[in-house]
Amino acid sequence: MNNYGINIWSDDNFIIDSGLVKLNYKTNPALIDIVQKVRSDGNTGPLILRFPHITQKQIDKLYKTFNKTIEEYSYNSSFYAVFPLKVNQFPNHILPMLKGSESLNYGLEAGSKAELLLAMAYNNKNAPITVNGFKDKQMIMLGFIAKNQGHDITLTIEGLNELETIIDVYKELNLPCPNVGLRVRLHSSGSGTWAKSGGINSKFGLSSMEILQAFDILKKHNLTNVLKMIHFHIGSDMNSIHPLKKALKESGHIYVELKKMGADGLDSINIGGGLAIEYSQYNRNIQYSLKEFANDVVFTLKDISEKNGVKSPNIFTESGRFISAPGSVLIAPTLELFSSEYNKSNIRLKKTNPPIIEELYYLFEHITKENAKEYMHDSLEHLESILTLFDLGYVDLIDRSNAEVLTNLIIKKSIKLKDIHNDKELKRLDNKIQEKYLLNFSIFQSLPDFWGINQEFPIMPLTHLDKKATRSANIWDITCDSDGEIPFESSKPLYLHDVDLTKEEYFLGFFLVGAYQDTLGMKHNLFSSPSQVNIVFENDEMKIKDFIKSQSILDIFDDLDYDSNEILNNLIISTENDSLKEVLQEYIKDNSYLKTTHTEGKFNI
Ligand SMILES: Cc1ncc(COP(=O)(O)O)c(C=O)c1O
Repeated sequence: MNNYGINIWSDDNFIIDSGLVKLNYKTNPALIDIVQKVRSDGNTGPLILRFPHITQKQIDKLYKTFNKTIEEYSYNSSFYAVFPLKVNQFPNHILPMLKGSESLNYGLEAGSKAELLLAMAYNNKNAPITVNGFKDKQMIMLGFIAKNQGHDITLTIEGLNELETIIDVYKELNLPCPNVGLRVRLHSSGSGTWAKSGGINSKFGLSSMEILQAFDILKKHNLTNVLKMIHFHIGSDMNSIHPLKKALKESGHIYVELKKMGADGLDSINIGGGLAIEYSQYNRNIQYSLKEFANDVVFTLKDISEKNGVKSPNIFTESGRFISAPGSVLIAPTLELFSSEYNKSNIRLKKTNPPIIEELYYLFEHITKENAKEYMHDSLEHLESILTLFDLGYVDLIDRSNAEVLTNLIIKKSIKLKDIHNDKELKRLDNKIQEKYLLNFSIFQSLPDFWGINQEFPIMPLTHLDKKATRSANIWDITCDSDGEIPFESSKPLYLHDVDLTKEEYFLGFFLVGAYQDTLGMKHNLFSSPSQVNIVFENDEMKIKDFIKSQSILDIFDDLDYDSNEILNNLIISTENDSLKEVLQEYIKDNSYLKTTHTEGKFNI
């Protein structure tokens, strides 16, 4: 049976048991049962399930691994971590995460004014806040306000002008200055999709010359003591450890050089993010473990510091993908299987049919296990011929429809008769015999990284896992856009089940979606974020909490700066019938996802 690579990507967070995907925690609930509970209140459409205990597990793993390594190497400084808000700003993710990590002093990283205000409002007491990205005077003022509120805040400068503004504001306010960090532009670049975040041509950070100038400016204003941190980030989702090793050597030497020049307050190196997640359901891509990552960081920084006679720096990380990706699962209901339109009752044989149609009908009637492959080949060839004849005007629409229906019926029958997973020849035909699964979700809204950078996410059905999945699957979303599709790829084949949606439901889970997808998602076609819930356990009892309903159509209009009252009035005024007015009002207060009855396959309109 296909296990959809659950042993590769799930890190034991999910298991397959009795044909169902289950949470591998406490009472081991099946995801389908959670989904059915949420839907029983009328919440159809896509859904995001968040599991705060998985996020907590990642945070604990990060701290434990680094603290153990620090102990093993007798490293004489400490480990700190912050969560970069850009990775997932949703309250359902942030608030339980901060609560669960209070005792660890887990902090937040902000990359904009909005994120900084969030960090100031919610950061764990005594935990650090780091601020990256380009800053104007307002953002720097916010840094001073945060410091004044008692936050342990570091403003990492991306350019000398930011440092000059910090000094201006310091003089203007005459208040204690936040810590200053220098983001250094390393020679080393990262690996993987985001390698360009590092390297000499990267968008961010100070060159060697600018680092020297920054230190001169601080000296001139008697502020060398506020310089606390060297920062670098060589790119997200680093699949190899080598670029990190190089970056550590480079930044470690910058650290000791500055210390030797008199940067007495400097006591930390912030290594940014980069820790990868295994997204593949086919093979392992990540070439290092968290322990190897921690060993390299601690060993390299200790080695450089000791050789140069300076105290080792505190180590900060800003890994977000590693923390938040595993804890969220997107669930999308299947609305339709396209070949389900192709059933026998739709064959419209005429008194006289073109010989190819007669032949197709014969193949359909006489297909057996022994001849299935041959008949399927023949039928695909016959379909091609009929399509060509149609274009030339030699056959009519009824003939064309008959050819499509019969070929699909022959393919379905052959797949049933043969064992697709053990049949190389059938596999070669996967591309030609795909089934299209229409799902009630938007790829642009919920999996923007699939659309934008072809990011792979593990996909599997929540049920039917004790049955053979025989259909090579092409996933379509409900947007009016041909990019809203996850096509079948023979190098990473996704097989799904042949289900009759009039009799049973079929939900697909998209895993590891907790990093970047939620806020990068866009309202293309005006689809809003899916409804979402947190699944928590209290005294070993599962609770569904923090339900956030998908935004209504009216709210989306508001977001676009339409006057939603005007829209509502325009619609109501031009409708005379009172019950139609009511219908309009009801629909506009709902979201754009398709409404269905208890089985998603049946539209109720
Ligand atoms: C400065 C900084 N820190 C941390 C991160 C998060 O990195 P990751 O996605 O590897 O967790 C990013 C992401 O781009 C970043 O720019």
